[in-house]
Amino acid sequence: MEEINQDLINSFRAPAFPGSFFLSFEGIEGAGKSTQIVKIKEFLESKNFRVLVLREPGGTPFGEKLRSAILNTKTALHPVAEAHLFAASRAQLLEEVTLRELSIPNTVIICDRYIDSTLAYQGTARKLGLKTILDMHNCFPLNLVPHLTFYLKISIETSQERQKMRNAPKDYFESQGLDFYKSLVEGYENSYKLFPKRIKLIDAEKNSDEVYESILKELMNLLEN
Ligand code: TYD
Repeated sequence: MEEINQDLINSFRAPAFPGSFFLSFEGIEGAGKSTQIVKIKEFLESKNFRVLVLREPGGTPFGEKLRSAILNTKTALHPVAEAHLFAASRAQLLEEVTLRELSIPNTVIICDRYIDSTLAYQGTARKLGLKTILDMHNCFPLNLVPHLTFYLKISIETSQERQKMRNAPKDYFESQGLDFYKSLVEGYENSYKLFPKRIKLIDAEKNSDEVYESILKELMNLLEN
């Protein structure tokens, strides 16, 4: 893994809004992000938090246009173009939704994918390099990261089995080959090494209730401290 200067890593911080929290979920296709996000949202609402679930790319009218442009493209995109499109969607989401909502106390923003997707997909799998992605995000508001990120880790085999069972049409990234998936897993490991405090590695091979319990344990630590 490439060496990254610690000052660069430290320049990424969680937004400081008393009483509000920013969370993200990450993982390769089939990791079970959507299921867990629904459960965690319900849990937080039962604790009287106002919870908003956002997805990336997307989440704003402009971001949704970018989402459909990227995921339905018939032309292969240059990885630099890809990375900038995802970052553009992210900056707009931060500006229009995330920061405004977090400023209201007792809010939790749950983001389905965030910067670690760009580090894994574009930085590692598309080979742009981690530093290139971090440098691209090293300005406000892109230098804001979640308080906690749950990386739902599954093997490539499990991902493929679960995708087969879903039998949904494949989008731009889902039609990539096995090597791409291998480097995605490596990419998420890289992110985890860069941000070991923020990212919680969750064994998502387990059944959904066990995965939920592991996430809850980490979440309680955040809420109680
Ligand atoms: P989506 O349908 O939301 O995938 P999933 O259900 O697996 O979360 O599509 C988002 C796709 O975009 C997904 O394949 C991951 C990819 N992606 C990137 O390559 N870079 C990024 O920065 C983000 C946010 C997503």
